[in-house]
Amino acid sequence: MVNDSSIDRVVVELRRLADSGAVGEKLPSTRALQQRLGVGPVTVQRALGRLVAEGRLVTRPGAGTFVSARRTVQASDTDWQQVALGPSPVQTSGLDVLFQLMGTPGFQLGAGYLDPGLRADTRLAAAASRAARRPDAWASSPTAGIPELRSWFSRQIGAEPENVLITPGSQGALSATFRAILPAGHPVLFATPTYPGALAVARSAGLIPIPVPGDQDGIRPELLRDAFARTSARLLVIQPTYANPDGSVLAAQRRGEVLDICRRAGAFIVEDDFARWLGFAAVPPPPLWQDDDHGQVITILSLTKVLAPSLRVGAVIARGPVMSRIAAMRIVDDSFVARPVQHTAIELVSGPAWSAQVRTVGSALRERAATLGAALARELPECSFTPPRGGVNLFLRLPQGVDDIAVATSAGRLGVAVAPGRFFTIGEQEAGHLRLSYAGIRNEDIPTAVGLLAQALHAVAGRTPGFAN
Ligand SMILES: Cc1ncc(COP(=O)(O)O)c(C=O)c1O
Repeated sequence: MVNDSSIDRVVVELRRLADSGAVGEKLPSTRALQQRLGVGPVTVQRALGRLVAEGRLVTRPGAGTFVSARRTVQASDTDWQQVALGPSPVQTSGLDVLFQLMGTPGFQLGAGYLDPGLRADTRLAAAASRAARRPDAWASSPTAGIPELRSWFSRQIGAEPENVLITPGSQGALSATFRAILPAGHPVLFATPTYPGALAVARSAGLIPIPVPGDQDGIRPELLRDAFARTSARLLVIQPTYANPDGSVLAAQRRGEVLDICRRAGAFIVEDDFARWLGFAAVPPPPLWQDDDHGQVITILSLTKVLAPSLRVGAVIARGPVMSRIAAMRIVDDSFVARPVQHTAIELVSGPAWSAQVRTVGSALRERAATLGAALARELPECSFTPPRGGVNLFLRLPQGVDDIAVATSAGRLGVAVAPGRFFTIGEQEAGHLRLSYAGIRNEDIPTAVGLLAQALHAVAGRTPGFAN
């Protein structure tokens, strides 16, 4: 049977042969290698293919496989680039750190995407193989996306298919939307705390994020009114449903007020509805889109959180001229989302696998959030948080004076990945926070991870002047 570990073993053997051979030396035939290494022809071919791709071997059709010359890496002087590049327009705002955290071994309280046990890998494999067999799988796509997928997204929030533009996840959607609406130099209001990826997009586009703090009921309307009075902002970015990082939901009684304030200011609202299918209750709150009859609200949805991070499919849903602008920006950016990915998405969401996945993920996340909350209350009573109502995150307030980066670093050394809260905020803060995600950790590992986190925090607090005693 061909599997990755037998291919890896043959790669090691072949690399050893190449290292011990002279440049141009011929390798034994495939049949001889099979016999010598006790594997089948496909395993040998795949292993040879890898070393050819690496440039360690070269195949000449009809003649065989030969050892090629080792490429010597020239250490070149690239210092001139620093002068040529000058100040960087790219501002990652901590997004790069979050991606790095996701890859760290140990207990994962830093990953905002599902762990392999919850991801829809098997369901996606079946959907992807059906998608790849379509005769039009590799043809170009309508730039707004394939009609059946646009139609599916429109039904999720009660929009029309022509309001929908398919994007590579919500990151791609946020990027195209902000840049299509505002030129560099303009302020943008963010309901805070917020998602660093959205801040990264805004800052990298030369926009100026302005914080509008919220509480357990979402953005505070009186502060939103003040922010519009003090700035010329024409855009508010908000996550009304299961916000990242605090899992909050915009209270029903605030929705009308927020819409009204924005309408009076002549401002658009980007509703980042990234966690629509990650609620703990049977039915999530309706999207803000449904309360809007002025074309103010631009809703962004994504399948990456509930299915898998590499199913890069999301949607921007908007009405009126703003939609044409965003659609044009998407064409400028990267034309369209690859058809096989779009077809995989529609294969999955239009079958029974979709509701099964949403149910499984919702109940697993609810259980994990409860386990995390209980462990925090037990181990870290000096910290506080509002229990999330959905999504994958909890925002833990640290005791006054305790530094979030110091705690995150110390937790990392003990094998627990957590994100420093400062990436999720704008400007000065009264207290430090950590963002704890329960998407990427098994329920049974949460108590141990929180125990280690408590150790880390107590070690940092013990070094914090005025805190320990
Ligand atoms: C609030 C929010 N919006 C957007 C995204 C981007 O998600 P994706 O591009 O995977 O859809 C994330 C990812 O963590 C998020 O938390």
